[in-house]
Formats: sequence, C-alpha cells, structure tokens
Amino acid sequence: MFTHLELYGGDPIFRLNEQYQADARQPKVNLTIGLYCDGNGRVPLLPSVLSAEQLCAQRKQPRTYLPMEGLATYNDAVQRLVFGEDCPALAEGRVASIQTLGGTGALKIGGDFLHLAYPDAEMWISDPAWDNHHAIFQGARVPTHSYRYYDAATRGLDFEGLVADLSALPRHSIVLLHPCCHNPTGVDLTPAQWDQVIDLLQRQQLIPFLDMAYQGFGQGLAEDAYAVRAMARAGLTFLVANSFSKNFSYYSERCGGLHIVCQNAAEAERVLGQLRAAVRRVYSNPPVHGAQAISEVLHSDGLFAQWQAEVGQMRQRIATMRQAVYDQLQTKAPHYDASHFIRQQGMFCYTGLSSEQVTRLREEFAVYLLASGRISVPGLNTENVSYFTDALAEVVR
Ligand code: LMR
Repeated sequence: MFTHLELYGGDPIFRLNEQYQADARQPKVNLTIGLYCDGNGRVPLLPSVLSAEQLCAQRKQPRTYLPMEGLATYNDAVQRLVFGEDCPALAEGRVASIQTLGGTGALKIGGDFLHLAYPDAEMWISDPAWDNHHAIFQGARVPTHSYRYYDAATRGLDFEGLVADLSALPRHSIVLLHPCCHNPTGVDLTPAQWDQVIDLLQRQQLIPFLDMAYQGFGQGLAEDAYAVRAMARAGLTFLVANSFSKNFSYYSERCGGLHIVCQNAAEAERVLGQLRAAVRRVYSNPPVHGAQAISEVLHSDGLFAQWQAEVGQMRQRIATMRQAVYDQLQTKAPHYDASHFIRQQGMFCYTGLSSEQVTRLREEFAVYLLASGRISVPGLNTENVSYFTDALAEVVR
C-alpha cells in the first residue's frame, strides 16, 4: 500500500549529528546541531531545574489532563519572561498564550491558526533560514518565500535588502523574524534597526511572527527580547513563539509557548479559543512535567535568580569561545578576516566557508559542521578549540 512513497532522506541537521556520533576517529569535533554543551562537552542538567523537579515530585500531584492551552501558572510566568513585567499588553489582557511542544510546536500551531485566520496569506522567511521553518509552514498550508537577510560579503546583515523586500510585500503577508541569535547566521538587528522594521511592519500592515528560541544567549534575557517588547509597546498585532530547549537545557521536555498580542481583551479571548481548538485537533493537550518545573523556577525568587546566573554562564561561555577562535586565528591565519566570529552572536556562527571547505574539515579533520558553513559554537571548549582553529587555518590557507 505504501510502496509508492519516497524514502525520507532525513533532516540534514540531525543526519549530520548521527554521522558524527558514528565516526570512530579521534579527535573529532561536533559543531552540527544546536545543543548547548558545557566546558566538558556535556549537555548540562541545570541545578535550578533539578531542584524544581524535586520540589514538583514531592507534591505527588495526579497526572490528569492539562487544559488545551496548558498549565496556567506556566503561561503566566512565561508571558512575563517574554514580554517583561511591565508590559501594557499583559496588564490589559491582550495577549493570548498557550504552552506548546517546544518552539517547533508553537510554530506549527501558529501556522495552523494563521491559515485559518488568513487562508490566502503567504509567509516570508529570512534567507538563509532554519530549513524547518519552510517545512513547518508549508505543512500548515502557508506558502513560503524568502526575504534578503544575510550579506555574504560582510558576513553581516543586509539591512537595505531586508527593508526593500519587506516594503514590497502585500498587506497581511506574514513575516518570520528572529528577535535574537538568528539561526543559522548569528547575525542580529540592532535596537535602532528593529525600530525601523517595526515602523515598516506597522505601515505595511504585515503580520510579524517572532521566533525566539535563544532568549538569554545573545546579550541577556531582557536585551534579547527587545524586538518583542518594542513591538508590544508600538501596538502591533503579532505572534511570538518561544522555546526553553536551550536556555533551560530542556530539549526533550519540549517546553515552549505561543503568544498572540491582540488589539483588545475580547479579541484575545477569541484568538485563545481558536488556539485551543487548533491544539485539540493536533495533540489535544500538552504534557505537564517540564512545564511544572519551569513554572516552579520562574515563580520562585531563589530558583529564578539561580537560573538567570546559569543562563549568564552559558552565554558567557559561548562569547569566550567566539573570542578564542578569533584570537587564535589572528596568528594561525593572519590573512583571514575572522571578525564575524565576534560580530555575530548566540549559539550559531555562519563561517562563510564553502561546501568544499566544509567537506575538507569533515573528511580530513573529523570536524563536523553544516554544509551551509554554520557552526554551533558551544560544541567548542578549551580542549578542542585549538584543534578546530588549526583545521580552519588549514582550509582557508
Ligand atoms: C538547530 O538548528 O540545530 C536546532 O534548532 C535543532 C533543530 O531542531 O534543528
């Protein structure tokens, strides 16, 4: 019955990660998937989260169904983390929020919702993109296109191209934007550039969909949410997907949120109802374990302070590795401009390496990165960074 189906080639990011795991060579370096590893190369279990899990376990609460929108205490706390304590839209009850299955689940439910609200609307996604963005929205029957974002010549932002492309979009087009730590490039807008883009989105009556998967990994928890908070202040109607996979190091718990900022509380109620209906159609209601632990951390002053410090350490370690790569390349490859390693921010660096150079790194040095040249910086540590820069210097020679 299913012989006509094509064989799934696998996801390029997960496939490369598996290829790395199967590689018997030593030394080898994994810079493929966006997983934060600590200085010992391990994905951490955050102490704040472990304490919260213990507190939750002691309560021995029965595992009944959660409502379709998820755990209420979680949604409250997540709203404040994403939008800030003093956000007028929250005070006015204009934000419809649901707990989702990670950031990806938020994008999928957001896509289903947008297709229902605006069946003819199409979506514009940065070029280059996290590949799954196109797949998720096409799967929700929202056609996708690209807008200019990355300037290969400067390994920075093509702000003029971005503004020109967004200015030409028809009313009610959906625009996917990354508030911080752009995946895959690590190239972000400055607050002043965000202000210009927000003006433009408002003028053109576009529908912004912000995907914030790395809050706290760029400049700080509040700083990284600049675009979200500025958009709420400016009175736009927009969507936000947020994820706790990275900043809580809680990947397999699938904890995220979808938030839709509306014009008034009555509209937010209608929107929330449609989000609940969308969830019921797809997975009925979300799991409780991870949400309870995150809610515990966000509601406890002590655990919250501890978690903020843990996020700060992760952020700092990423910045330190970026700086180490830059410093070492100054002597190992003086002709090569490595400034993008410190100009870009967050988990990913878009190295600008060609696919031939990427292949050489993998085949000759067992250094794994995506074919696009993206590296996941936290795969580097004080043990392997020098090996990495030696290899890099060799292929850019
Ligand atoms: C990545 O881009 O490596 C991460 O966001 C993991 C994923 O799901 O692709």
